[in-house]
Amino acid sequence: MGNDDSDKRFATRSVHSGTKHIEGAVNTPIFQSSTYYLSDDRYAGWAAGAQHTLIYSRLSSVNSEACVEKICALEGAEDGELFASGMAAISTVMLGLLSNGDHVVASADVYGGTYGLMTEELPRFGISVTMADMQDPSSYEAAIQENTRMLYIETLSNPVLKVCDVEAMAVIARKHGLLLVIDNTFTSPWGCQPVAMGCDLVIHSTTKYLGGHSDIVGGAVVGRKDLIADLFPKKIHFGGAPDPHACYLLERGMRTLSARMPIHCENAAEIAKRLDSHPKIEKTIHTTLPHHPDFETAQRIMPKGTGMLAFVVKGGDDAALRFMRNLKLIFEATSLGGVESLIECPFNSSHMFIPEPVRTAAGVVPGFVRVSIGIEDVEDLWQDIEQALAQI
Ligand SMILES: Cc1ncc(COP(=O)(O)O)c(C=O)c1O
Repeated sequence: MGNDDSDKRFATRSVHSGTKHIEGAVNTPIFQSSTYYLSDDRYAGWAAGAQHTLIYSRLSSVNSEACVEKICALEGAEDGELFASGMAAISTVMLGLLSNGDHVVASADVYGGTYGLMTEELPRFGISVTMADMQDPSSYEAAIQENTRMLYIETLSNPVLKVCDVEAMAVIARKHGLLLVIDNTFTSPWGCQPVAMGCDLVIHSTTKYLGGHSDIVGGAVVGRKDLIADLFPKKIHFGGAPDPHACYLLERGMRTLSARMPIHCENAAEIAKRLDSHPKIEKTIHTTLPHHPDFETAQRIMPKGTGMLAFVVKGGDDAALRFMRNLKLIFEATSLGGVESLIECPFNSSHMFIPEPVRTAAGVVPGFVRVSIGIEDVEDLWQDIEQALAQI
């Protein structure tokens, strides 16, 4: 499953791996069917646990199978499962693989939905979480208890773009016999390969770079075959399976992943460089800037950069808001990873319910702006940013 194209390079895998050439089709056709004829083969697959057997689309579908095989091929993973959203993937991992009495070490910098799951839902089921600092692997090690089962990290934090030393986290996880689970949404497998660095499970909100066109919501978990086999019945019980049509769009999006990602990253690096010397900008955050606090770690963990960029507009949140509203090309919208550039201020969106002193302590200072840089012409993006800054 997944790795039969392992002799091929990344771009070739992103185009070809997993695609089902049914009836000679070049692309996997859309199988908009909730259920499948039960043949002897399928009864046998059902009796063997039903994983990757076409029985009923809450279990899997032709289109979800194509996507899982492609993501496994891109991440170098043994097996995987697809979900209806990134949060369905994350909650199924947490509630499916952990039990009452277990403990997780995570970070307050994780995606807001994940933070809510960990602080509001997991404790109701007797699963406790200690928040450490993703930027400091020793803080994770210090938080480990006798009942710790999982270390949970993200490649790159949102929105302040801290880089996690995934390799150092893997050493700690191995030393203590713990599961290492990573959310690799912000870099995609093109930018970071967590399985090769020692992660047991890799999660994606496929809504973002993997889908790449802001037209679907989806999630995926790939990694160790034994863990995915444990996860599969939980996915059936919790029911967060993706629709075949969304899977079709995901597969179509992933076929151009290796063509899109370099443009996202090069555009973001170029705009970061220009913003860094702009008189109306107080601070620019991008992993390719040598003054980024994790520059060295980024060079090792995600050397090709990212399309995610953050900066602080002089004059605080009012100025940032005025700048944002002056933009003509870059859309004011939440989410990331699509071909179009999207911008948001955390103070009135992702971080609106976090009190200002807490936000500021986390680095989300007044004037903070987050941009998901798209694949438009970089000069058009720059022109838009420059004219919007000129008006404040
Ligand atoms: C890093 C990260 N993980 C997970 C999620 C949740 O994904 P979804 O919105 O597909 O449920 C998001 C959403 O923004 C995200 O940014």
